[in-house]
Amino acid sequence: MGEKRILCVGLVCLDIISVVDVYPAEDTDTRCLSQRWQRGGNASNSCTVLSLLGAPCAFMGSLAPGHAADFVLADLRRYAVELTHVVSHPESSFPTSIVISSMSRGTRTILHTNRNLPDVTAQDFEQVDLTQYKWIHWEGRNAAEQVKMIQRVEAHNRACPAHQRVSTSVEVEKSREELYQLFGYGDVVFVSKDVAKDFGFQSAAEALRGLHTRVRPGATVICAWAEAGADALGPDGELVHSDAFPPETILDTLGAGDTFNAAVILALSRGQRLQEALTFGCQVAGRKCGVHGYDSIV
Ligand code: ADP
Ligand code: FRU
Repeated sequence: MGEKRILCVGLVCLDIISVVDVYPAEDTDTRCLSQRWQRGGNASNSCTVLSLLGAPCAFMGSLAPGHAADFVLADLRRYAVELTHVVSHPESSFPTSIVISSMSRGTRTILHTNRNLPDVTAQDFEQVDLTQYKWIHWEGRNAAEQVKMIQRVEAHNRACPAHQRVSTSVEVEKSREELYQLFGYGDVVFVSKDVAKDFGFQSAAEALRGLHTRVRPGATVICAWAEAGADALGPDGELVHSDAFPPETILDTLGAGDTFNAAVILALSRGQRLQEALTFGCQVAGRKCGVHGYDSIV
């Protein structure tokens, strides 16, 4: 059998991206440098990167019908992302983001709308054949349901030999109280700079020291911090750091975190050590910041 797949559970949406030199002032009428449609959503972006890095992967998330959905489905197929676990909601609207990507400052300002698309549930997740996957990653969203999904994987792991176990990771990216219950689940917990700051931490290392008591014993916690790179705290208390790898010119930081997560997950899933995985994550994310979109990150 070939390499088992990595499954990412979370959002797919449409990003309508305007590239500008300088972020526009309110109530002005200016031209952007370029504009494009791009498939977005953290889990969907991580799938793009996994595919580009040569890892077989699958996406699980919700979809509502329409032109935007046709666009993102065709794009997922173009990147050979497996779509067996996409759940359709014919009555819902498809989520979109207006993104202003400012080249001079390296910022990406996101205005997201998701009016009524339900997230996938633990019941949807019952359909997933766990033996197909070596790693399952959850973008923190409907946390209470996601906890049940992870518990299903934990029960599966307890019942099978070590080499058949499915590794798990969660991402706590948005500073929403509901998501913080996810700290207690997963072999690897990704926590964002925004969440770390919400807890009052001023650096990645400080965040790891403060948050490690919330993750389960034996778990790894990882915090990326934009141009400061990323830090991680391993199961044995080992604290590792990687500097960022800034490109010559920052062109587009949209999805840098999703790229970082994908590269770290791939490296760990292939048995690399935490330091190597963190460095690889920063290298790939740095390359991503130097290109528009993802295609030339490899
Ligand atoms: P996001 O805001 O998309 O969640 P992060 O700020 O968490 O992304 O950054 C993820 C990783 O991307 C960082 O660890 C770093 O390696 C890389 N990165 C992000 N921004 C920059 C930047 N301005 N220069 C260099 N690397 C960056
Ligand atoms: C980037 C991203 C975009 C999307 C937004 C949703 O990390 O996934 O593609 O529009 O975040 O919050």
